[in-house]
Amino acid sequence: MCGIVGYIGKQDAVNILIDGLRKLEYRGYDSSGIAVIHDKHLTVEKAVGKLTNLEEKIAPLAVKGNIGIGHTRWATHGKPSDANAHPHTGEKGQMAVVHNGIIENYLYLKETYLAGEHFTSETDTEIVAHLLEKFYDGDFEQTVIKVLDLIEGAYALVMVCADEPDKIIACRKGSPMVLGVGEGESFIASDVPALLAYTRKCIYIEPGELCILTQEGIEIKNHQGEVLAKEIHTIDWSAEAAEKGGYEHFMLKEIEEQPAAFQRAMAGRIKNGRVKFDDFTLTKEDIAKWRKIYIVACGTAYHAGLVGKTIIEKMVRIPVEVEIASEFRYRNPMLDEETLVIVISQSGETADTVAALQEAHDNGSKVLAITNVVGSAIARAADYVVYLWAGPEISVASTKAYTTMLLAQYLFGIYLAQQMEMITAEAENDLLAQLQQLPVETEKMLTAAYQSQIQQIAANYEKVNDVFFIGRGLDWAIALEGSLKLKEISYIHAEAYAAGELKHGTLALVTTETPVIALCVQEATYDKTASNIKEVKARDARVLAIINEGDTETAKFVDDVLAIPRINNFLSPILAVVPLQLISYYTAKIRGCDIDQPRNLAKSVTVE
Ligand code: G6P
Repeated sequence: MCGIVGYIGKQDAVNILIDGLRKLEYRGYDSSGIAVIHDKHLTVEKAVGKLTNLEEKIAPLAVKGNIGIGHTRWATHGKPSDANAHPHTGEKGQMAVVHNGIIENYLYLKETYLAGEHFTSETDTEIVAHLLEKFYDGDFEQTVIKVLDLIEGAYALVMVCADEPDKIIACRKGSPMVLGVGEGESFIASDVPALLAYTRKCIYIEPGELCILTQEGIEIKNHQGEVLAKEIHTIDWSAEAAEKGGYEHFMLKEIEEQPAAFQRAMAGRIKNGRVKFDDFTLTKEDIAKWRKIYIVACGTAYHAGLVGKTIIEKMVRIPVEVEIASEFRYRNPMLDEETLVIVISQSGETADTVAALQEAHDNGSKVLAITNVVGSAIARAADYVVYLWAGPEISVASTKAYTTMLLAQYLFGIYLAQQMEMITAEAENDLLAQLQQLPVETEKMLTAAYQSQIQQIAANYEKVNDVFFIGRGLDWAIALEGSLKLKEISYIHAEAYAAGELKHGTLALVTTETPVIALCVQEATYDKTASNIKEVKARDARVLAIINEGDTETAKFVDDVLAIPRINNFLSPILAVVPLQLISYYTAKIRGCDIDQPRNLAKSVTVE
C-alpha cells in the first residue's frame, strides 16, 4: 500500500523524505518518488523499483530544498512505471501531489474539467494535480478546498505549490496519515515509523480534516474552515523497535519477539485471577443481550477469528460466525442491537474491515475492535477496543500480531465467561496460569537447536510446488494460517484442509510430490487425524506432523515430527503456529524469496 511522507523545516528535505520512505517500505511498493521546492522551483524525481533506484537518480542531480513530499507507490491505476510513480504535477509543473487511495470519479473530472490537457501517466492522482493547477488563483489553500469538493473516493493527499513554498497542505478521507510535530519543522507520513527518528509528538488526522504544515507549526481545520485544537500523542515505541535490530529479516525478528509480545499483551490485564480491560467494562446484562457474534476480518486476522469462534462458543455458548470482511457487507448480514461485531485488524486500517465496522454501526450493532495500532481508524470508530500491544509489525507476513490476536481473544473469552459467571474460579485460575506460561513455553521453540531442526525439515520443501496442511478443529484453524504463511512468503502453492475433508476430492492430488503438514495437537481428534495421515501416507506423501511434547506414537507413521510444549489443549493454537511460522520462514529463505516484502502483497490494504 502506498506510503507518504512530507517535510517542511530547515533541514535538507531529500534525506528526510528518503529516510521516511524507507521506514514505510514494509507497506509494499513498486516505485517511488519525491518532489522538492527550492527557490520557488519544483523538482520531481521518480523511479520504478526499489528506493535505491530513486536514490541513484537523485544523487548526481543534487536535488535540494527544505520542503518536499515523497511517496512509495503500490499500483492501483496504471502499471508500475516511472511515469505512474508519484508525485504527480499539473501541466505547468507548479504543484505536486502524492496520494494513497483511489479517486473514484477521476474519469468524470478529467472529461468535465480537463479536456485538452496533456497527461503523462495513467493514474487517477495526476487528475488532482491538473485540477489544482487549473484552479490556482494565488491562494493554495482555497484551491485545495475547491478541488477536494470535486473529488470522490477514499484518499490521503499531500500537496505542495512552488509559488507558496512555505506550506504543505494535506487531507485525508479514508486512508490513514499522521502528523509529526517538530521544533521549527513539521512532518507528515502514512505511519509513525517514518516520523520516529525526528519526533515522538504526533497528531492523528481524522477524515475530512485539512492540515496546513509550515515551519512554525501545523494548523488543522474542519470542513467549515474552523481551526481545531487537536490532541498531541507521544509515541513510546523506540526507533530501534521499528527497525531490524540485527536480524536478517523483520519476519524472524518478529517471530522471536513473540514471548515479549505475550508478556506485554497480558500485562495489567490479569489481576488476582481475573481478567480486566482498562478501556471498557461489559456487564452481565450487556453480554446477555447478544444473541449472536460476528467476527469479521481479512487475511491472517480472519484466521485468528476462526480460533476466536471456538473460544467464545466454548466460554459463553453464544453462536459466533466468522466472516471475511470483503464479503460481509455485500451479503446483507443479520445485524441488530442484539449482535456484537468483533473486527480484528493488525493495522486497524484495512478498508474492507473498516467498511464492515461501519455496516455494523449502521445497523445498530456494537463493535469491539482487536487491533495493534493505537489511533487507527478501526480503534477510533469501535465501541470497545482490545489492543494487541504486539509492538510494530513490519514484515508483510503477520506473526506476532496473529498470535497476540489469539491471546487477546482468549483473554476476552475468559473475561466474558467471568462476567457471565460461566466459569469457576478454579478453571479461570488454571487457564490464566497457563496463559502466563506462554512466553516461557514459546521460548523453547525459538532456541538455535529447535530452529536448526526446522531448517533441516524446510530443506525438503525447497523444490516442491504444492503442500497440503491438514488438521481438525483448532488444528484446522492453525493449518489455515500455516498454509497462508507458506504461500505468501515462499510462493509455494499451499492449501489447508479439515483433515476429514481431504478424501472428498483433494486426495486425488496427493502423491509423492505433495508433502503434507499434519497438525496432531488436539487430543480429542487425534485418532481421526492419525487415520487421515495414514490415508496420505498410503499415497506416498512425505508427512511432517506437529505433535505435543511426549507424543511417541505419531513418529512411528510419519516422516518428520516437530514437538510443541505441552499446554492445556484449548490454548495450544498459540504454540502450534510457531513452528509453522518458522517452517515458512526457512523455506522462503532457502528459495531466496523476498521474505519481508513478498511480491504483489502489501502490509496494509487500504483499498477495497
Ligand atoms: C494484508 C496483509 C496480511 C493481513 C491482512 C489484514 O493482506 O498482508 O498480513 O493479514 O492484510 O490486515 P489487518 O491489518 O486488517 O490485520
